[in-house]
Amino acid sequence: MSGLLYTLLSFAASTSLHCAVRREISPCTCRQEDFSAPISNPPLGSPLHGERIEVECEKMESFNQVAEALRGRFTPEQSITLRVSHSYLKDISRHGFKDLKMSITRLELNYDKLGVLNGEIFAGLGRTQYLSLADNEVPSIPRPILSHLSLLRTLDLSRNRISRIEADDFKYNPTLQYLFMAGNSIAEMVPGSLPPLIKHLHVGRNHLVSLNRTLRDLNQLEWLLINANELTSLDGELPASGHNLKMLYVVDNKLTHLPAEFRFLHRLESLFLQHNKITSLDGTLQKARRLKFLELSYNHLQVLHEDDFIEAEMLEDLQLGHNALTSLGGVTSVTPEETTTSNSALYPLKSLKCLNLTHNNLREFSFTSIRGLRELKMLDLSNNKIQRLTRGRAPTERTILSPLVVLQNLVEVDGDEMAGVGIQDMHLQHNELRSLEGSLFLGMRQLQRLNLSHNALGPTVGLRDLKGLDGLRKLDLSYNELTTLEDTSESWLQSLEELNVAHNRLITLSERDFRGFPGLCWVDVSANQISVLKPELVANTRCTVHGVPDVLRIYLQDNPVLCDAGLADLTVALEVYHAKVYGVANDCPTPSTPAAPTTTTESTIVPPLPPTLLLAAAAAASGGNVSFAATLE
Ligand SMILES: *[C@@H]1O[C@H](CO)[C@@H](O)[C@H](O)[C@H]1NC(C)=O
Ligand SMILES: *[C@@H]1O[C@H](CO)[C@@H](O)[C@H](O)[C@H]1NC(C)=O
Ligand SMILES: *[C@@H]1O[C@H](CO)[C@@H](O)[C@H](O)[C@H]1NC(C)=O
Ligand SMILES: *[C@@H]1O[C@H](CO)[C@@H](O)[C@H](O)[C@H]1NC(C)=O
Repeated sequence: MSGLLYTLLSFAASTSLHCAVRREISPCTCRQEDFSAPISNPPLGSPLHGERIEVECEKMESFNQVAEALRGRFTPEQSITLRVSHSYLKDISRHGFKDLKMSITRLELNYDKLGVLNGEIFAGLGRTQYLSLADNEVPSIPRPILSHLSLLRTLDLSRNRISRIEADDFKYNPTLQYLFMAGNSIAEMVPGSLPPLIKHLHVGRNHLVSLNRTLRDLNQLEWLLINANELTSLDGELPASGHNLKMLYVVDNKLTHLPAEFRFLHRLESLFLQHNKITSLDGTLQKARRLKFLELSYNHLQVLHEDDFIEAEMLEDLQLGHNALTSLGGVTSVTPEETTTSNSALYPLKSLKCLNLTHNNLREFSFTSIRGLRELKMLDLSNNKIQRLTRGRAPTERTILSPLVVLQNLVEVDGDEMAGVGIQDMHLQHNELRSLEGSLFLGMRQLQRLNLSHNALGPTVGLRDLKGLDGLRKLDLSYNELTTLEDTSESWLQSLEELNVAHNRLITLSERDFRGFPGLCWVDVSANQISVLKPELVANTRCTVHGVPDVLRIYLQDNPVLCDAGLADLTVALEVYHAKVYGVANDCPTPSTPAAPTTTTESTIVPPLPPTLLLAAAAAASGGNVSFAATLE
């Protein structure tokens, strides 16, 4: 019975029963926060021990209206969160929160156009632990108010008009731990002004040129947000014993380098440094043993050094996009006796899952530079100038054996030593690749998505170039210079579902082109020069989606074959093989122009055309715009 009652009460508590049965507090509203205090059969309707109530008043016309609605409606035992927002409280100085006779533990006054406030208004808020005056017009740290709030733990003054923090501003609030002052115009802070026990400090989006050694003694600091200021250096600015600093958010400043003290931030887990002007890491992150997330994109890094991350073995996510990197460390020296390659900067990053190097100046990338990164799942190398991709070590070819046996042996021999075995996503688009060295990706069985678009690959991607990609589901080869898919198809990509070869120079699609892609469901070959398309193209494919047979969709927009009079017959033949073509013929030559010779309709399977297709065929032949997809749907 008591179990059931408990359940009912908990349920009631999470809805608003206890607020609703209370006397009317309109236009304010009230709801019960879920509580964790133990309940032992309290009589229904009586106040529960330890209950917390949220009272919300929006768009009030005066503070008096608030007072009228709330005064005397709550007992002193009830801890109240009071939110008064978007209201006109011009008369607030004639009242005070004392009038409300409530135990306000959390007070939020937002969007109320509050400016200078008389401290007495806040008398009686000795129990308040949380005060938000965010989104008002407060011109300075409201010391008179704070003097009444000696138990304050959290203060939010974000988005006001505060321009400086003075020495005594927080002298009445020694227990303050969370202080948010983002989006003011703070340009000046003096040492000793911030309360000593601060754990989270947000002074982002201000006008700070220097931290002025104000944070030196904040040894409890765990989170520091100083983004979007004008800081050029953090040298000597971080807490003298930075043992507790876990998160540092310095995005969008003018840092040119990292301070030497970074070496002592052993607890640091997340470091956000994007949009600065950092040119080198100088070993400052070498000892960042707990670092998991490092954002360094949009900086001016040029090279990484072998020892840059030497102890950062917990790093999972490394964002280096939009820098000027030409090297990842790791020097190859060739002597007559041997070729040795020292490790890249990335080698110690045993936990790395995501490596983003987009928009840099890499001209070459060797998979040896990700050797040992067994957790790596995502590699973004897009928008570089990569002309050569190498495995590093030349695979030991045993030419007497058939290529297949050699390949199998390679997989065996290299085994887990293979770089990139765990990669699922590889972005290589927008580079300058002309060819893929044979068997580059061998062993990357986890690779599911490979983007090679916007390179200069061609005229073919060879027989062995994509060999071993047993798990590949999406391959993007668009915007390259391929004239045929025959060799690519020889690679046998058994899991391939989506293939994009749009904007290449394909001329023909025939039985050999998709033969090696048995599970293909979606192909984009638009904007090629395809004038010949044979139904046998799809004879060896069978699209299934979650094990259910589906249709292979082929997008043919902007190819001469769309003007072919035989296309209508062909679409029917393709349908027999569970494939469908899509495309609208534009600007076809009129029938009087001698048509290019085509060999499209050699198919033996040409069932009689349904009337809609006859119409489509006629229209195509006469140069009209026909949507084949439409005729088939
Ligand atoms: C730095 O602190 C000093 C006091 O130590 C103060 O006089 C000065 O105005 C502060 N400067 C800035 C830019 O905050
Ligand atoms: C790589 O980082 C850039 C920003 O530098 C971002 O836009 C892009 O989405 C990231 N790539 C991936 C695959 O997440
Ligand atoms: C490959 O990259 C290009 C260019 O960034 C992008 O437009 C395309 O959607 C990507 N392909 C896939 C399959 O994600
Ligand atoms: C065919 O399409 C093009 C562009 O979409 C358009 O300009 C043209 O008028 C269309 N022709 C016919 C016959 O509808």
